[in-house]
Amino acid sequence: MLFTGTQFLVISQVFTAATLYQVINFYQNWKDTSAWQAAFRGLVVFLTGAGGLVTYDIYRKRPAKSHTWRTVLLQYTLTQIFRVFGYFSLRNFETASKNISKMQEDVLMFYIRTLENTEFGKKHNYSQMRTREDFLKLHPVLSYADLKPYIDKTVAGEKNQITPFDPFYIAFTSGTTGKNKAFVYTKEMFAKPSKMFKALLFMTLSFKRAGLWDGLKRYHLVRIGVKTNFTDSGIITGPIAGMYEFFPGYLVSPRVVYDVATENEAHYLHVLFALKDPEIGAFDFSFPSVATRFCQTLEHQWPQLCDDIENGTLNTDLDIPEDIREKLQTDMRADPQRAVEVRQIIRRGFDGIVRRLWPECNAALMLSSGSLLPEAEGLKKHYLKDVPFCNPVHAATEGFFGFCDPGDNSQTRFIMTTSINHFDFIPVEETDKPSPRVVPIEEVQIGQCYELVITTAVAVRYRQGDVVKIVDFHNQVPVYEFQYRLGQMLNLYWEKMTEGAFVHALRGAAKRIDVDIVEYTATENVNFEAIADALQKGRHYVLFMELSEKANKEQVRMTSQQKQMFEDVLYQEHEVYRMLRDNGSILPMKVIQVKTGAFNALKDAIVESNPRTSRLQYKTPRVLRAPDRLRILWDSRLS
Ligand SMILES: *[C@@H]1O[C@H](CO)[C@@H](O)[C@H](O)[C@H]1NC(C)=O
Ligand SMILES: *[C@@H]1O[C@H](CO)[C@@H](O)[C@H](O)[C@H]1NC(C)=O
Ligand SMILES: *[C@@H]1O[C@H](CO)[C@@H](O)[C@H](O)[C@H]1NC(C)=O
Ligand SMILES: *[C@@H]1O[C@H](CO)[C@@H](O)[C@H](O)[C@H]1NC(C)=O
Ligand SMILES: *[C@@H]1O[C@H](CO)[C@@H](O)[C@H](O)[C@H]1NC(C)=O
Repeated sequence: MLFTGTQFLVISQVFTAATLYQVINFYQNWKDTSAWQAAFRGLVVFLTGAGGLVTYDIYRKRPAKSHTWRTVLLQYTLTQIFRVFGYFSLRNFETASKNISKMQEDVLMFYIRTLENTEFGKKHNYSQMRTREDFLKLHPVLSYADLKPYIDKTVAGEKNQITPFDPFYIAFTSGTTGKNKAFVYTKEMFAKPSKMFKALLFMTLSFKRAGLWDGLKRYHLVRIGVKTNFTDSGIITGPIAGMYEFFPGYLVSPRVVYDVATENEAHYLHVLFALKDPEIGAFDFSFPSVATRFCQTLEHQWPQLCDDIENGTLNTDLDIPEDIREKLQTDMRADPQRAVEVRQIIRRGFDGIVRRLWPECNAALMLSSGSLLPEAEGLKKHYLKDVPFCNPVHAATEGFFGFCDPGDNSQTRFIMTTSINHFDFIPVEETDKPSPRVVPIEEVQIGQCYELVITTAVAVRYRQGDVVKIVDFHNQVPVYEFQYRLGQMLNLYWEKMTEGAFVHALRGAAKRIDVDIVEYTATENVNFEAIADALQKGRHYVLFMELSEKANKEQVRMTSQQKQMFEDVLYQEHEVYRMLRDNGSILPMKVIQVKTGAFNALKDAIVESNPRTSRLQYKTPRVLRAPDRLRILWDSRLS
């Protein structure tokens, strides 16, 4: 049996032969052919010629051996379609980006006119708002409390509150640090002037970086299943990911794996199907924490995984619904040879394991900037080594804010999606003032950090809470780096240690003492003292930290000198902290190292206590204050 790729080569040769035969035949008999015959023959030549080119192109893109005809054609067709549409979408963006004021006016007025006759639009006098200047002058900056009454009524089934259309999805935010917020999506806003659709095409730019335009290796989307539910008024609700469910047949894991909503089981299956296929071209992890969990599952469960590969079985300890197990069993084939190969590779350790198991891997897609950098850097030093990272999009429940800058090799920059959203900016130093200054997009400055104020398909002039740093302009469109989310800061006096400043110091210290941080969170001593005896008399920070294990699963233990480094770097970098430390108002920070898996237990507790928090959206709170949560970490400290 020939491999799929070779089959396509053979077919392309047949097509080429047929084309040549037709052309020669045509040339020899052209005097006797009627116009109709000529047209028919021309068509045949065109079709066989096109068939030859397409099949040769597929062969040239070296399809993975595990592809079937169906999956290779599907992947090829979809990639080509995305590529063509993505090209035009980008070209339009390119032209429009030369006049940012016009671009923003167009988007904004579309939203204002759409909402004009809703209760929300009437409240804010949208009928009198004729230009973007009116909007900038008159429209207040809103918080969730301003939107909530309208959204609650919509959820309860009332019409024309915050959208003139019928809602089809209520998306919940992760709520890891507070209450879940809900946003109303409608099909019309989603599809209208194809605005959101264009945004999806921006995502495909990351496919280019992931080598998916030039090759036909497999694409592994590592995702935990999400649970959706219905409101009493019959609208689907769930995390935003539940709205974008698109699992084409060419993915590495079979469709049914994406229905597994428990984390251990979903990861086990994603690792299992990944191991069966040595030719994976790209991994899509969404977040560094997912990548870490994926690699940890591999590290801790590889003996069972290899047994399953060897015998085509499915670990009986795996707690998955019977119907899913049955469906999966039909996809299982015994592959003793691959099992031997995997065991050999794994016995040589887990450093750079992803590249060693999947040598063709072009990229790992995940958001890895700002406060996610320490974890991403931990991955780069250990499991992922030289696999390039790719930041596909900067998105949240409220919309897509940025797409990856294809020319940025460090992969930390986003180009603002100014063709589908309207943006205002609050300088970061003004964010806690009662009426902060709002800067229009024309006046943002390189090097400055701002909180985003967004107008998207689901919210108007809404303080979104993500802080970004403007680093460049693409024509007139801002290019930015994600920094952190507002509202997560440590504060003992008035030093207001932001997540951004804290993370910077943390990374600096981790580099100097050469440790790989898996997860971290911090708190003030008052919260800590609710669960344990005071560590020292006076105010101070407590930093909890999980490090990656050594190759032999041995726990890396930080010495007290190493722990001291985190305090030292913070002291050097943060002026106000230094002042308060110098006169003894603040005592040195205490670093508590926790065992492997402690942060997973924290995640389980948070997700279980809030049914609306999906595992996919979960983000580790960088400031943790709830005593029962802190206890989970404290109980798994390394003594
Ligand atoms: C941008 O577009 C607006 C409206 O069409 C126009 O008035 C303005 O002159 C344009 N600006 C530039 C720099 O082309
Ligand atoms: C809307 O217009 C009315 C009448 O012109 C005015 O009384 C009201 O304050 C306006 N509301 C807002 C939110 O601007
Ligand atoms: C689904 O929603 C109903 C209320 O509408 C609630 O009682 C139920 O617990 C929810 N189910 C899940 C699995 O969250
Ligand atoms: C796999 O199959 C072989 C041969 O049938 C058997 O000896 C071995 O115990 C099986 N392994 C597992 C883990 O079931
Ligand atoms: C320490 O310094 C800060 C800032 O200069 C000041 O606000 C605080 O009162 C000082 N505390 C003591 C105990 O001197």
